[in-house]
Amino acid sequence: MLRSKIIGTGSYVPKKIVTNQDLEKMVDTSDTWISTRTGIRERHIAVEDSSSEMASKAAKNALKAAGVSPKDIDLIVVGTVTPEMTFPSTACFVQSHLGVKAGAAAFDVSAACSGFLYALDIADKYIKTGAAGKALVIGVDQFSKLVDWNDRATCVLFGDGAGAVVLSAEKGSRGVLSCHIHSDGKHWEMLYSGNPCPPSPFEERKAANQYLVMNGNETFKIAVRTMGGAITEAMEQNKLTAEDISLLIPHQANLRIINATRDRLKLPDEKVYTNLDRYGNTSAGSIPLALDEAVRLGRVKENDIILFVSFGGGLTWASAAVRW
Ligand code: UT7
Repeated sequence: MLRSKIIGTGSYVPKKIVTNQDLEKMVDTSDTWISTRTGIRERHIAVEDSSSEMASKAAKNALKAAGVSPKDIDLIVVGTVTPEMTFPSTACFVQSHLGVKAGAAAFDVSAACSGFLYALDIADKYIKTGAAGKALVIGVDQFSKLVDWNDRATCVLFGDGAGAVVLSAEKGSRGVLSCHIHSDGKHWEMLYSGNPCPPSPFEERKAANQYLVMNGNETFKIAVRTMGGAITEAMEQNKLTAEDISLLIPHQANLRIINATRDRLKLPDEKVYTNLDRYGNTSAGSIPLALDEAVRLGRVKENDIILFVSFGGGLTWASAAVRW
């Protein structure tokens, strides 16, 4: 049986760092409020990089780690809700930036913070069915261009960044064991950004609020519930107990949400990877960025069982289990 083996990881964050102290000068907030309520201390903000440039840099690092040439990639799937343009897809830009061969397939997936796991699920199915031999799966977002920098309730939460993995079709027991993706569109108003497409007149659309809107408290409760459920689903499908899990890499939105998930699973702290203190919530970038960091720090070893779990606008939620 063919499996999608992760043979390389990479990430990229823009240079500019905005600390909680910097935000204190911009809105009515404090380092104490942000760090105790969210766990975030600083975030990277893109000034010069666009989404496709961040995605391409992360992907280049993943290809280098994998020792794979862009010419060998058959499929590029990018999870993002801050694409380079409405169309073409950010994945097509990545294809062009990296020199991936003409004729490969490239497309984006819109699932907000679950974008990377949605993209992984799709690419995994292409690999397992033999439709692609090698795939680039990327999560990238640039929420700095969606948030209202005068709104303390949202601007303190997000950062920009990208992460990527190279999947290779290989036989054996190592690789992606399961992916589960879910959504419930009736909760779309919990977290959204942007306006409906025409027919509303241009002037109306121009005057309307374009910024990200979030019901933080409700999203928090749903996040704890859905992430717990998604992990249980992954563990049941793979007949795993908490002891079998080497590392949980959750979506990095809020340390209190991550800790609630950890407690529900009765996992020790050292089995849960967090880096949101330094990056904030990078939406679709968050899980692959954390994975790349964990790999480079030697926190992931051959045959380890790694669980990923996410939630985000849509509402969407997802999980994946991997034998490394
Ligand atoms: O990837 C999915 C993205 N979404 C999320 O992750 C959202 C999940 N939700 C959360 O993480 C939390 O709900 C927040 C961090 C957004 C908010 O934390 P909270 O503990 O739920 O606070 P709250 O919204 O209940 O607000 C408590 C107080 C309010 O003041 P009053 O009404 O009690 O006087 C807010 O106005 O904190 C105030 N507040 C702030 N104060 C200082 C809200 N934002 C700030 C701020 N600085 N940045």
